[in-house]
Amino acid sequence: MSDQVQMTEMNYDKDRPAAQNPVKIMDLSLRDGHQSLFATRGRTEDMIPVAELMDEIGFWAIETWGGATFDTMHRFLNEDPWERLRTLKRYLKKTPFSMLLRAQNLVGYRNYADDLATAFVDRAAENGMDIFRTFDALNDYRNFETVVTQIKKSGKHFQGCICYTMTEPRLGGDVYNLDYYLTKAKDLDSMGADSICIKDMAGLLSPYDAYELIKTMKETVSIPIHLHSHFTSGMSSMTHLKAIEAGVDIIDTCMTPYAYRTSHAAVEPLVMTLLGTNRDTGFDIKKLAEVNEILEKEVLPKYKHLLDDSKISIIDINVLLHQTPGGMLSNLVNQLREMDALDKIDEVYKELPRVRKDLGQIPLVTPTSQIVGVQTVNNVLHDTDGERYKMITGQVKDLCYGLYGKTATAINPEVQKKALKDYPRGEEPITCRPAEVLEPELEKAKEEVGNLAKDIDDVILYAQFPVTGKKFLEWKYSISPVPDNVKPISMEEVKKKDDILRKAKAGELIEKKGDTPAKSESSRTFNVFVDNEYFSVDVDPVGGPAMIMSQPIQPAVQQPVPAAAAAAPSPAPPASPEPAPSAPASGTVLLAPMPGMIVKYEKKVGDSVKKGDTVVVLEAMKMENALPAPCDGTIKAIDFDSGDTITKGAVLCVIG
Ligand code: CO
Repeated sequence: MSDQVQMTEMNYDKDRPAAQNPVKIMDLSLRDGHQSLFATRGRTEDMIPVAELMDEIGFWAIETWGGATFDTMHRFLNEDPWERLRTLKRYLKKTPFSMLLRAQNLVGYRNYADDLATAFVDRAAENGMDIFRTFDALNDYRNFETVVTQIKKSGKHFQGCICYTMTEPRLGGDVYNLDYYLTKAKDLDSMGADSICIKDMAGLLSPYDAYELIKTMKETVSIPIHLHSHFTSGMSSMTHLKAIEAGVDIIDTCMTPYAYRTSHAAVEPLVMTLLGTNRDTGFDIKKLAEVNEILEKEVLPKYKHLLDDSKISIIDINVLLHQTPGGMLSNLVNQLREMDALDKIDEVYKELPRVRKDLGQIPLVTPTSQIVGVQTVNNVLHDTDGERYKMITGQVKDLCYGLYGKTATAINPEVQKKALKDYPRGEEPITCRPAEVLEPELEKAKEEVGNLAKDIDDVILYAQFPVTGKKFLEWKYSISPVPDNVKPISMEEVKKKDDILRKAKAGELIEKKGDTPAKSESSRTFNVFVDNEYFSVDVDPVGGPAMIMSQPIQPAVQQPVPAAAAAAPSPAPPASPEPAPSAPASGTVLLAPMPGMIVKYEKKVGDSVKKGDTVVVLEAMKMENALPAPCDGTIKAIDFDSGDTITKGAVLCVIG
């Protein structure tokens, strides 16, 4: 590298020459970092301790919002997403904010109407957003039109993404080749993009492909090129370096505690790598270390129980094998595990490329990764030798209709026909910009939510998340009590829990006398939180090794006990947490084929149904599944309500 300067004897602080063309860095710790590693559970109160320090680093921008944060915050953290933006703005005064915007999908999982999309962007800008990193899961830029118009109107930075995906092990093939990406870059340039992001959400971009891609892209367009490449497969540090050699302008990284695994490479090694070169970031590594220290000691202990430590490797080799996002693969594994079908994983790996091909070789990114993933699992679990696509999700039907946009290749006509049979909007797919067929929805949402919404931001939240958004607004305005499992945990609680677990592991909680009763008075109960689940764990000093009984209290999903507790011999399984179907009216039952959340019932008790009519819409893995009546008859009983979490096998209704 000709840019290299002699580093010997250089004093890091004093003699560091200013770089001619410093690499700009965007930090992702506060959004993609915790989204990737800790299921987006990072709380605003845990960002504040580092915010002012991070403002001093010199980041090009800090990603603070968007992606899954909006959903997760109101659903699992009892936090108003809008408020985070305003709060962080008070601490991060200099550094621009960036958000991940799913174009016409906003921060939800379907295309919303133009009026809602415009209102959302307007409100995000008003609340403090500066850079709108915009992507469309299909790279169909017609889905950019409405939001980009508003981004420009608000005077903000429009960063257009190209979702990087592949069908071959390397850049190339019939669909996602160099030409494809250069055409997309030109499209974005002519749409008025202020910068282009190559969004490599799965960590598929290999270093030499990155070099070729970025070098030619730099020769093709003059706006800055920004690289977003997840670490998942292990290539991204190398990819960053080759991208920098090819002239990339901006790189995405995380602070070390939020880095690697399915997240992004850390900033600190990159700073040292570029030190003294003409692409030196100019960052003060000591300041970065200060931020790290706080995150490591005061923040991350609260989240370490969310870190997936089931694997020792920090690299997901499956990504290299399957060219599929790691997050999607782990979703598939979780989904199969919840359905006691983990033995079918190899079939899922085989079915996945077939489904993707049938659905037009779409890129795999939220929400298309879920669309392809859930349909793949449905096929593996429900298809028979005689019939494929037995259970088609609502989202696949929408995709086949054209509601997400244009797919990279044509959808398999047979699958499309089957998906669109009795589709409410019509059996003939559309070819226009999807939002053109969507009726305005903001006023409707306003009416529906009524007085529960106090301002437009509440309405926009409700419009995108009617079920969980309503629940949140009820917590926010003290109409219903805030459940314990959405409340924050303190460092004191973490320390207490760690202390008990440490003692249990060390055997210090063992009662030494042999004549202790089965459950002694010195038995100790403590709470362990796993994800949104709460375990009540009894540490009971009966002779021999420490016995730890672990019993999930809610929700009723089978979940492995925390590692430390699992290390102890497991007693008899706890009482089944599943709600016992109360054997009401006799008749044919509709059972939940998978765990999930009830979105809504299309029928009520007393309604007559025909076999195949949709009775209930179940949300599983963020996909809505319309569940059909198994027979003709009358609805005799319904045990659940909108918003209820249900287990696999729950009786959703009785038809007699
Ligand atoms: Co990402």
